[in-house]
Amino acid sequence: QLPERVKIVEVGPRDGLQSEVAISLNDKISLVNMLSHTGLSMIESGSFVSPKWIPQMANSGELFRRIKRTKGVTYSALTPNLIGLNAAIAANVDEIAIFGSASESFSRKNINCSITDSLRQFSPVVKQALAAGLPVRGYISCTLGCPYEGYISINKVAKVAQQLQQMGCYQISLGDTVGVGTPEATKAMINAVSQYVSVDKLAVHFHDTYGQALANIYAALQLGVSVIDSAVAGLGGCPYAQGASGNVASEDVVYMLNGLGIESGVDLSELIAVGNFISERLKRSNGSKVAQAYPAA
Ligand code: HMG
Ligand code: MG
Repeated sequence: QLPERVKIVEVGPRDGLQSEVAISLNDKISLVNMLSHTGLSMIESGSFVSPKWIPQMANSGELFRRIKRTKGVTYSALTPNLIGLNAAIAANVDEIAIFGSASESFSRKNINCSITDSLRQFSPVVKQALAAGLPVRGYISCTLGCPYEGYISINKVAKVAQQLQQMGCYQISLGDTVGVGTPEATKAMINAVSQYVSVDKLAVHFHDTYGQALANIYAALQLGVSVIDSAVAGLGGCPYAQGASGNVASEDVVYMLNGLGIESGVDLSELIAVGNFISERLKRSNGSKVAQAYPAA
């Protein structure tokens, strides 16, 4: 039973740009402002993390202060700790996300602590965010495999999801960080998680490294998942790592949803125009297949 309506969470300005070559703040602001007019209802626009770890996101506060906010659009950001949360609140962020992992090794590489310690550190962040009126989304990385450990147990994913929900996250986004998952593995993982967190509280977040993202999204839709993370132009992926690629392209997701008769509220041709704009600024080819095939305006 496919959902009638799907919410797309556009993560290009954050997940995409965090691993692209740095572009000017003005170009980032233009990207968020343009995305705001495509019908998207949520744009993850930056992150409040250590600038030593992710220099591309260092000006997120400035970005949030300068974007033109569109009514009905939620502008969210990642915050790993209280320093990040306070900076996000000061910049008037609408919603935050914390980001845990189902892989010990990835947790240490990404946020410099174990899974258990990360959950301990997230707890006050969630508490204070909720007290400040900010909804909190929870990410889990490496839900279908880890770049360092390979196989990840779906029970581990389910347990982390349960803990993030108990902490107060209204939604859990299941990340295939390295894009290794395939459709039946996706279904098995979602079924395991849904023992603890109901499907209407789940989102999926696929990177397209192995070209499996759309197939995996379709598998998730069949289980009733109705929130999909994606990045315009398939932004992301390290230009220095062979084969690495970004999130599934938002344009490709919208095209598939249109074909399935599932409403997303997003205008495909406007989205394609935004993807072409940012690809040109990044001096890279557009990572969306649909954008490449679409007749030029
Ligand atoms: P650390 O070095 O262990 O922490 O980093 P620390 O607390 O010892 O702090 C070190 C320095 O960073 C200090 O400054 C802090 O003040 C500063 P110093 O005294 O050295 O000058 N600092 C901060 N500065 C700004 N904002 C902050 C902040 N926190 C500390 N919030 C930390 C720990 C978590 C901060 C670090 O590891 C970090 O920032 N990691 C973020 C990594 C990241 O952003 N990764 C990408 C996002 S996750 C992702 O992409 C996956 C996802 O898309 C899902 C999927 O695909 O699966 C979500
Ligand atoms: Mg990601």
